[in-house]
Amino acid sequence: MPSTPIHDIELSYVDRGNGDPVVLVHGFPLDHRMWDAQIAAVARRYRAIAPDLPGFGRSGSRSNEAFTMEQFADDLAALLDARQVHTPVVMCGLSMGGYIALEFWKRHRSRLRGLVLCDTRADADSAAGAALRCQTADRVHREGPAVLIETMLPRLLTAATVAGRPEVVESLRGMMAGGDARGVAAASRGMAQRRDFTPLLAAIDCPTLVLVGGEDVISTPAEMAAIARDIPGARLVEIAGAGHLSPLEQPVAVSAALMQFLDGLPQ
Ligand code: MLT
Repeated sequence: MPSTPIHDIELSYVDRGNGDPVVLVHGFPLDHRMWDAQIAAVARRYRAIAPDLPGFGRSGSRSNEAFTMEQFADDLAALLDARQVHTPVVMCGLSMGGYIALEFWKRHRSRLRGLVLCDTRADADSAAGAALRCQTADRVHREGPAVLIETMLPRLLTAATVAGRPEVVESLRGMMAGGDARGVAAASRGMAQRRDFTPLLAAIDCPTLVLVGGEDVISTPAEMAAIARDIPGARLVEIAGAGHLSPLEQPVAVSAALMQFLDGLPQ
Protein backbone atom coordinates (compact mmCIF):
# COMPACT_ATOMS: atom_id res chain seq x y z
CA MET A 1 0.00 0.00 0.00
CA PRO A 2 1.55 3.33 -1.01
CA SER A 3 1.99 6.24 1.37
CA THR A 4 2.83 9.91 1.14
CA PRO A 5 4.02 12.55 3.63
CA ILE A 6 1.05 14.65 4.82
CA HIS A 7 1.79 17.46 7.24
CA ASP A 8 3.87 15.72 9.93
CA ILE A 9 3.08 12.04 9.18
CA GLU A 10 3.17 9.36 6.51
CA LEU A 11 -0.35 8.64 5.21
CA SER A 12 -1.24 5.33 3.52
CA TYR A 13 -3.89 5.25 0.84
CA VAL A 14 -5.39 3.34 -2.06
CA ASP A 15 -5.65 5.29 -5.32
CA ARG A 16 -7.24 3.20 -8.06
CA GLY A 17 -8.97 3.87 -11.38
CA ASN A 18 -9.33 6.95 -13.57
CA GLY A 19 -11.83 9.70 -13.98
CA ASP A 20 -13.71 11.88 -11.51
CA PRO A 21 -12.24 11.38 -8.04
CA VAL A 22 -14.22 9.80 -5.21
CA VAL A 23 -12.76 9.80 -1.69
CA LEU A 24 -13.93 7.03 0.66
CA VAL A 25 -13.39 7.84 4.35
CA HIS A 26 -13.60 5.01 6.87
CA GLY A 27 -15.34 4.94 10.23
CA PHE A 28 -13.99 4.46 13.74
CA PRO A 29 -11.93 2.38 14.61
CA LEU A 30 -11.48 0.87 11.15
CA ASP A 31 -9.39 1.48 8.05
CA HIS A 32 -9.77 1.73 4.27
CA ARG A 33 -10.51 -2.01 3.96
CA MET A 34 -14.09 -1.46 5.07
CA TRP A 35 -14.56 0.03 1.57
CA ASP A 36 -12.90 -2.83 -0.38
CA ALA A 37 -16.05 -3.70 -2.35
CA GLN A 38 -16.86 -0.05 -3.08
CA ILE A 39 -13.26 0.71 -4.12
CA ALA A 40 -13.51 -2.11 -6.68
CA ALA A 41 -16.91 -0.89 -7.95
CA VAL A 42 -16.00 2.82 -8.09
CA ALA A 43 -12.63 2.20 -9.76
CA ARG A 44 -14.35 0.63 -12.78
CA ARG A 45 -15.55 4.08 -13.90
CA TYR A 46 -14.00 6.63 -11.53
CA ARG A 47 -10.88 7.24 -9.47
CA ALA A 48 -11.28 5.78 -5.97
CA ILE A 49 -9.06 7.25 -3.24
CA ALA A 50 -9.34 5.58 0.16
CA PRO A 51 -6.93 6.62 2.92
CA ASP A 52 -6.16 5.12 6.28
CA LEU A 53 -6.71 8.15 8.50
CA PRO A 54 -3.84 9.17 10.81
CA GLY A 55 -3.64 6.68 13.69
CA PHE A 56 -5.54 3.95 11.78
CA GLY A 57 -4.52 1.04 9.56
CA ARG A 58 -1.05 1.52 8.12
CA SER A 59 -0.86 5.29 8.43
CA GLY A 60 1.43 7.04 10.86
CA SER A 61 0.08 8.61 14.01
CA ARG A 62 0.60 11.80 15.99
CA SER A 63 1.18 12.54 19.64
CA ASN A 64 -1.72 15.04 20.03
CA GLU A 65 -4.20 14.40 22.83
CA ALA A 66 -7.11 14.74 20.36
CA PHE A 67 -7.38 14.44 16.57
CA THR A 68 -10.16 16.82 15.58
CA MET A 69 -12.52 16.31 12.64
CA GLU A 70 -11.19 19.62 11.28
CA GLN A 71 -7.61 18.24 11.27
CA PHE A 72 -8.73 15.07 9.53
CA ALA A 73 -10.54 17.15 6.87
CA ASP A 74 -7.37 19.18 6.31
CA ASP A 75 -5.36 15.94 6.07
CA LEU A 76 -7.69 14.82 3.27
CA ALA A 77 -7.19 18.12 1.44
CA ALA A 78 -3.42 17.65 1.80
CA LEU A 79 -3.72 14.08 0.48
CA LEU A 80 -5.57 15.41 -2.59
CA ASP A 81 -2.75 17.92 -3.14
CA ALA A 82 -0.17 15.15 -2.79
CA ARG A 83 -2.06 13.01 -5.32
CA GLN A 84 -2.35 16.00 -7.70
CA VAL A 85 -6.14 15.99 -7.50
CA HIS A 86 -7.18 19.46 -8.56
CA THR A 87 -10.74 18.74 -9.73
CA PRO A 88 -13.63 18.68 -7.21
CA VAL A 89 -14.21 15.32 -5.52
CA VAL A 90 -17.13 13.35 -4.20
CA MET A 91 -16.48 12.83 -0.49
CA CYS A 92 -18.07 9.69 0.90
CA GLY A 93 -17.73 9.07 4.65
CA LEU A 94 -19.15 6.52 7.03
CA SER A 95 -19.91 7.52 10.61
CA MET A 96 -16.69 9.23 11.82
CA GLY A 97 -15.86 9.49 8.11
CA GLY A 98 -19.19 11.32 7.72
CA TYR A 99 -18.28 13.81 10.48
CA ILE A 100 -15.06 14.44 8.55
CA ALA A 101 -16.89 14.74 5.21
CA LEU A 102 -19.15 17.41 6.73
CA GLU A 103 -16.08 19.29 7.99
CA PHE A 104 -14.55 18.95 4.53
CA TRP A 105 -17.66 20.64 3.11
CA LYS A 106 -17.32 23.45 5.68
CA ARG A 107 -13.59 24.01 5.16
CA HIS A 108 -12.93 23.02 1.54
CA ARG A 109 -16.23 23.66 -0.26
CA SER A 110 -14.59 24.56 -3.57
CA ARG A 111 -12.99 21.11 -3.72
CA LEU A 112 -16.30 19.29 -3.37
CA ARG A 113 -18.60 18.02 -6.11
CA GLY A 114 -20.88 15.83 -4.03
CA LEU A 115 -21.32 14.31 -0.59
CA VAL A 116 -22.24 10.78 0.49
CA LEU A 117 -23.12 10.50 4.16
CA CYS A 118 -23.29 6.87 5.30
CA ASP A 119 -24.51 5.74 8.72
CA THR A 120 -23.44 8.98 10.37
CA ARG A 121 -24.83 11.73 12.56
CA ALA A 122 -25.08 15.50 12.33
CA ASP A 123 -25.43 16.33 16.01
CA ALA A 124 -22.61 16.62 18.55
CA ASP A 125 -22.15 14.26 21.51
CA SER A 126 -24.18 15.02 24.61
CA ALA A 127 -22.10 15.99 27.67
CA ALA A 128 -22.58 12.47 29.06
CA GLY A 129 -21.72 10.88 25.70
CA ALA A 130 -18.56 12.97 25.38
CA ALA A 131 -17.47 12.08 28.93
CA LEU A 132 -17.99 8.38 28.25
CA ARG A 133 -16.06 8.62 25.02
CA CYS A 134 -13.11 10.23 26.84
CA GLN A 135 -13.13 7.42 29.43
CA THR A 136 -13.10 4.89 26.60
CA ALA A 137 -10.25 6.81 24.95
CA ASP A 138 -8.16 6.54 28.14
CA ARG A 139 -8.78 2.80 28.24
CA VAL A 140 -7.83 2.38 24.57
CA HIS A 141 -4.64 4.35 25.21
CA ARG A 142 -3.73 2.07 28.14
CA GLU A 143 -4.86 -1.31 26.79
CA GLY A 144 -4.93 -0.97 22.99
CA PRO A 145 -7.78 -0.67 20.46
CA ALA A 146 -8.78 -4.36 20.72
CA VAL A 147 -10.64 -3.46 23.95
CA LEU A 148 -13.28 -1.87 21.70
CA ILE A 149 -14.16 -5.18 20.07
CA GLU A 150 -16.21 -6.54 22.94
CA THR A 151 -18.33 -3.43 23.50
CA MET A 152 -18.58 -2.02 19.99
CA LEU A 153 -18.65 -4.92 17.57
CA PRO A 154 -22.12 -6.25 18.40
CA ARG A 155 -23.53 -2.77 17.79
CA LEU A 156 -21.83 -2.36 14.41
CA LEU A 157 -23.38 -5.37 12.66
CA THR A 158 -26.82 -6.95 12.54
CA ALA A 159 -27.41 -9.91 14.85
CA ALA A 160 -27.79 -12.10 11.75
CA THR A 161 -24.32 -11.13 10.50
CA VAL A 162 -22.73 -11.67 13.92
CA ALA A 163 -24.32 -15.13 14.12
CA GLY A 164 -23.99 -16.30 10.53
CA ARG A 165 -21.13 -14.57 8.70
CA PRO A 166 -17.88 -15.32 10.52
CA GLU A 167 -15.75 -13.98 7.66
CA VAL A 168 -17.31 -10.50 8.02
CA VAL A 169 -16.88 -10.61 11.82
CA GLU A 170 -13.25 -11.72 11.50
CA SER A 171 -12.34 -9.03 9.01
CA LEU A 172 -13.95 -6.43 11.25
CA ARG A 173 -12.09 -7.70 14.33
CA GLY A 174 -8.82 -7.43 12.41
CA MET A 175 -9.49 -3.81 11.46
CA MET A 176 -10.64 -2.88 14.98
CA ALA A 177 -7.48 -4.25 16.55
CA GLY A 178 -5.15 -2.81 13.93
CA GLY A 179 -4.93 0.90 14.80
CA ASP A 180 -2.37 2.73 16.91
CA ALA A 181 -3.55 2.84 20.56
CA ARG A 182 -2.66 6.49 21.05
CA GLY A 183 -4.09 7.52 17.68
CA VAL A 184 -7.39 5.66 18.11
CA ALA A 185 -7.75 7.22 21.57
CA ALA A 186 -7.02 10.68 20.13
CA ALA A 187 -9.64 10.24 17.38
CA SER A 188 -12.16 9.27 20.04
CA ARG A 189 -11.42 12.47 21.98
CA GLY A 190 -11.68 14.42 18.72
CA MET A 191 -15.16 12.99 18.06
CA ALA A 192 -16.17 14.09 21.56
CA GLN A 193 -15.22 17.66 20.58
CA ARG A 194 -16.96 17.72 17.21
CA ARG A 195 -19.40 20.49 16.35
CA ASP A 196 -23.17 20.18 16.05
CA PHE A 197 -23.76 20.24 12.30
CA THR A 198 -27.55 20.18 12.53
CA PRO A 199 -28.01 23.95 12.04
CA LEU A 200 -25.65 23.89 9.03
CA LEU A 201 -27.33 21.11 7.05
CA ALA A 202 -29.73 23.48 5.30
CA ALA A 203 -26.73 25.32 3.83
CA ILE A 204 -25.25 22.25 2.14
CA ASP A 205 -25.33 23.16 -1.51
CA CYS A 206 -23.90 20.14 -3.31
CA PRO A 207 -25.65 16.95 -4.43
CA THR A 208 -25.91 14.65 -1.42
CA LEU A 209 -26.72 10.99 -0.93
CA VAL A 210 -27.69 9.84 2.56
CA LEU A 211 -27.32 6.12 3.02
CA VAL A 212 -28.27 4.08 6.10
CA GLY A 213 -28.45 0.44 7.13
CA GLY A 214 -32.07 -0.41 7.93
CA GLU A 215 -30.97 -1.92 11.26
CA ASP A 216 -28.37 0.68 12.24
CA VAL A 217 -28.68 1.22 16.01
CA ILE A 218 -25.91 3.88 16.21
CA SER A 219 -27.11 6.29 13.52
CA THR A 220 -30.67 5.10 13.10
CA PRO A 221 -32.76 5.29 9.92
CA ALA A 222 -34.93 7.93 11.65
CA GLU A 223 -31.91 10.12 12.41
CA MET A 224 -30.55 9.70 8.89
CA ALA A 225 -33.97 10.51 7.41
CA ALA A 226 -33.91 13.77 9.41
CA ILE A 227 -30.47 14.60 7.96
CA ALA A 228 -31.75 13.90 4.43
CA ARG A 229 -34.79 16.12 5.08
CA ASP A 230 -32.61 19.02 6.23
CA ILE A 231 -30.15 18.94 3.30
CA PRO A 232 -31.75 20.56 0.24
CA GLY A 233 -32.36 17.97 -2.49
CA ALA A 234 -30.65 15.11 -0.61
CA ARG A 235 -31.62 11.57 -1.54
CA LEU A 236 -32.10 8.93 1.17
CA VAL A 237 -31.40 5.24 0.55
CA GLU A 238 -32.07 2.62 3.22
CA ILE A 239 -30.10 -0.62 2.90
CA ALA A 240 -32.02 -3.71 4.03
CA GLY A 241 -30.20 -6.33 6.10
CA ALA A 242 -27.47 -3.99 7.30
CA GLY A 243 -26.55 -2.36 10.58
CA HIS A 244 -24.05 0.47 11.08
CA LEU A 245 -21.47 -0.94 8.67
CA SER A 246 -23.69 -1.20 5.62
CA PRO A 247 -20.78 -1.22 3.08
CA LEU A 248 -19.35 -4.35 4.75
CA GLU A 249 -22.63 -6.14 5.38
CA GLN A 250 -24.40 -5.38 2.09
CA PRO A 251 -21.56 -4.50 -0.29
CA VAL A 252 -23.52 -5.07 -3.50
CA ALA A 253 -26.48 -2.89 -2.50
CA VAL A 254 -24.26 -0.11 -1.15
CA SER A 255 -22.03 -0.13 -4.24
CA ALA A 256 -25.12 0.00 -6.48
CA ALA A 257 -26.58 2.99 -4.59
CA LEU A 258 -23.22 4.76 -4.68
CA MET A 259 -22.69 4.14 -8.40
CA GLN A 260 -26.22 5.28 -9.23
CA PHE A 261 -25.53 8.54 -7.35
CA LEU A 262 -22.13 9.04 -9.02
CA ASP A 263 -23.48 8.30 -12.50
CA GLY A 264 -26.28 10.83 -11.99
CA LEU A 265 -24.10 13.76 -10.96
CA PRO A 266 -24.08 16.75 -13.31
CA GLN A 267 -20.91 16.95 -15.39
C1 MLT B 1 -17.99 5.06 13.66
O1 MLT B 1 -18.46 4.05 13.13
O2 MLT B 1 -17.17 5.78 13.05
C2 MLT B 1 -18.38 5.38 15.07
O3 MLT B 1 -19.56 4.71 15.40
C3 MLT B 1 -18.55 6.87 15.24
C4 MLT B 1 -18.89 7.25 16.64
O4 MLT B 1 -18.50 6.55 17.59
O5 MLT B 1 -19.53 8.30 16.81
